[in-house]
Amino acid sequence: MKVLSLSAVISSFVGLALSQDVSLAAVRRAFNTANIPTDASLTFNPSVLFEVTFPQTSGPAVNLHAGIQLPRNATVGPPQFSVRDSFLSPARSFVVAMVDLDAPTPQTPTAAQIRHFLGGDFHPDGSRTRTEKLSNTTAAISNFLQPTPPAGSDPHRYVFLLFNQPQGFDQQTAVTATTSIANFNISQFASEVGLGNPIGGTFMLVGPDPSS
Ligand SMILES: *[C@@H]1O[C@H](CO)[C@@H](O)[C@H](O)[C@H]1NC(C)=O
Ligand SMILES: *[C@@H]1O[C@H](CO)[C@@H](O)[C@H](O)[C@H]1NC(C)=O
Ligand SMILES: *[C@@H]1O[C@H](CO)[C@@H](O)[C@H](O)[C@H]1NC(C)=O
Repeated sequence: MKVLSLSAVISSFVGLALSQDVSLAAVRRAFNTANIPTDASLTFNPSVLFEVTFPQTSGPAVNLHAGIQLPRNATVGPPQFSVRDSFLSPARSFVVAMVDLDAPTPQTPTAAQIRHFLGGDFHPDGSRTRTEKLSNTTAAISNFLQPTPPAGSDPHRYVFLLFNQPQGFDQQTAVTATTSIANFNISQFASEVGLGNPIGGTFMLVGPDPSS
């Protein structure tokens, strides 16, 4: 019984590892179906396949596809970011944000958004391979925080967004390391610092740890 469930877990993780997004239309559809553009006040017309990968302590890393549900313990992170089938200039810089739209619960998101990650100066590796890693050269503004939906909550939507980085972003003071991570508004932040609309994104659903 134990052996069977373990192999089921392993094969489901192998499945997840292979299941990254391959279509911009499918990503946009998944965002619309989950009501993300409305709830986050964003215009979402992605031009880049943005890939988010969670390394695992054992077994292959998990690549998100938009709307995937993951067990909390697969989201320890920190996540790695890359772009797929999109040859971006390594001379350009990008901003990555991750927000929880459903804190403390999807029914009553009074603390939303929670800022789970915000960082700039991500650069494509210039390898011109199918998947180009984005690596960062400066510390994140908000370090990655693992999802922790409270016991009894339905799964939350954790949304990852990729933006072109405007000139002067490193000097912005709209959000700093001491700004509360609760009641964040990515749309307001984007307009304050001139990020424009996101050029890519994906999201995952994560519920609380099983209670037994
Ligand atoms: C996550 O927890 C489940 C039990 O809830 C367990 O079966 C699984 O092996 C754990 N996975 C990882 C990656 O720790
Ligand atoms: C880079 O991004 C990671 C998350 O992917 C973050 O933990 C880290 O603080 C950032 N900065 C550096 C210099 O690595
Ligand atoms: C977030 O900011 C946008 C403006 O960019 C605004 O339209 C929206 O109402 C704000 N959302 C919340 C929950 O305050």
